[in-house]
Amino acid sequence: MSNSKYILVTGGAGYIGSHTVVELVENGFSPVIVDDFRNSQESSIDGIERITGKSVTLRRIDVCDFASLEGVFSEFNFEGIIHFAAHKAVGESVEKPLAYYRNNLLGLINCLDLAVKYKVENFVFSSSCTIYGEPKNEKVVTEESEIQIANSPYGNTKQIGEEIINDLVASGANIKILNLRYFNPVGAHFSSQIGELPIGKPNNLLPAVAQTAIGKIDKITVHGNDYDTTDGTCVRDYIHVTDVANAHVKGIAWLQSQKNSLVENINIGTGQGTSVLEIIHTFEEVSGRKLNWEFGKRREGDVVEIYADVTKSKAILNWEAKKTVKDAVKDAWNWEKRISD
Ligand code: UD1
Repeated sequence: MSNSKYILVTGGAGYIGSHTVVELVENGFSPVIVDDFRNSQESSIDGIERITGKSVTLRRIDVCDFASLEGVFSEFNFEGIIHFAAHKAVGESVEKPLAYYRNNLLGLINCLDLAVKYKVENFVFSSSCTIYGEPKNEKVVTEESEIQIANSPYGNTKQIGEEIINDLVASGANIKILNLRYFNPVGAHFSSQIGELPIGKPNNLLPAVAQTAIGKIDKITVHGNDYDTTDGTCVRDYIHVTDVANAHVKGIAWLQSQKNSLVENINIGTGQGTSVLEIIHTFEEVSGRKLNWEFGKRREGDVVEIYADVTKSKAILNWEAKKTVKDAVKDAWNWEKRISD
């Protein structure tokens, strides 16, 4: 083990990445961000610096550019890698499949290749609950639940990413890899210095709700009200982004404690399901504003109800979500107010 404190964080200026960089600094690591700002903003770097009081180490590089990325590996003696850099919009991935496959798969392959070459043994990959698709006969999914055929190129890049990782570890490579399968990350840092910065009209629920409350969007449409759930709307496992970030720090620490090559898949969720209407009502309560919303038709490709079995994250990583959905909604609202000033 090299015992260096440098952790490479690709996509570290992005939504989950920036929160993870803060958690890493607060836990004594020295993160090195690689980001090309194609889907993130430089203001997140300022936000990280304001929260931590430390200057950020940043290399403005596309992870698909192997030679430039290798330059970063030769510059720092990394103890671990957290690989976030990827495209993440489901709808866009249907329109631009090649861009998604190229960026998400080539970026991952480059990072893995250089990890092996430079003997960086601890690797965390951003996976997603999207790989479970619509779970058969269950709402709570364990890591052993069946993986369904992906319903978008984006989802497929996460599935193929995990397969690439499995094949690499099976080949005897000296590397320990954690696939963290996130459920629905929401909220923002409690300081409102960093948070989600959707480009264009947001597709995800929380940014759409927040933008409706602030008046950037006239009305939010609830996609479907006749599902077989408690109130007819879809149910998800919304998890505070700071909790998600902390899981990466716990993940790196756990990988450091392991001796042999391995690959482990772990759900990162709260274990609780929340419906779309429950989110809207919580938002109204927290913000004190009446939201303009209406029921619309079902959104194609939506899973009805899914949340995480979190037994494994507690047992292996000694990690569990600490914040509630209400905390996340409150932080999302404070963040929206700050960026709309
Ligand atoms: C989506 C992606 C998932 C990705 C995740 C990243 C799909 C099918 N899945 O998850 O692969 O990893 O984002 O964050 O797109 N909703 C409304 N009105 C809105 C927006 C959303 O009713 O304006 C509802 C949706 O129908 C859904 C729930 O809110 O029931 C959550 O939607 P969203 O935030 O987009 O997340 P997912 O679809 O779960």
